[in-house]
Formats: sequence, structure tokens, C-alpha cells
Amino acid sequence: MIQHHLLLCATPAKALCSPDPAVGLESWNTLKRLVREWGLEDPSRADGIVLRSKADCLRICAEGPVLLIWPEGIVYGGVTAERIERILKEHVIGGTPIEDWIVKRMPFQPSKR
Ligand code: FES
Repeated sequence: MIQHHLLLCATPAKALCSPDPAVGLESWNTLKRLVREWGLEDPSRADGIVLRSKADCLRICAEGPVLLIWPEGIVYGGVTAERIERILKEHVIGGTPIEDWIVKRMPFQPSKR
């Protein structure tokens, strides 16, 4: 079972949302490290695993680095390494999104089938 999928626009080719690639790269490395260290990708995790992917552009293109979290469709902006840690703790593990850092919500359309 998958609990969350996290997509980070960390080092985009056109650098539209995050002009300094060093900031995005540090966020990405922190995300990978914490997901591993906190056992979030452990297949036996009761709440399901947490997937993380480095995306090139999430079509937000402002206030980066940008982190999109499914299934909620919540987009965080200004996602530095420090923010990654708190987002994982409070949103992904704790279940409470951090409203002040949300820059967009893009929920799925409910299936008509
Ligand atoms: S370049 Fe980061 S969202 Fe588009």
C-alpha cells in the first residue's frame, strides 16, 4: 500500500521556480535521507510506504523549491531542507498539512466510472 507520493521540483532544467539549484538539491537530498532514516519506505510500514520522486517541473513555477504531495494534491512552496523535515513530521506522518506553506491545492477530479 502507498500512503503518499511526494514530488519535488528540485533542480529544474529551466530553473523557473528555484533559481538556486543548490537549495533544491539540498532539499532533495534531505527528503531522500529522512524517508530512508525514518523507515517511511519500509514495505511493512503499517500506514503504507512513502514514495519520493524528483520532478523537473510541476507547472507551478514560482516560490520553489515546490513539493507536491499526493493523494491530497497539496503543493508546498519554499521547500528548503528545514521545511522538508517539518512537512514529513506534521503532514506525512502526523496527517496535518501546514497551511502557511501551501501555495496551491490541485485535487483529483472524482472518477465518474
Ligand atoms: S520549474 Fe519548478 S514548478 Fe516549474
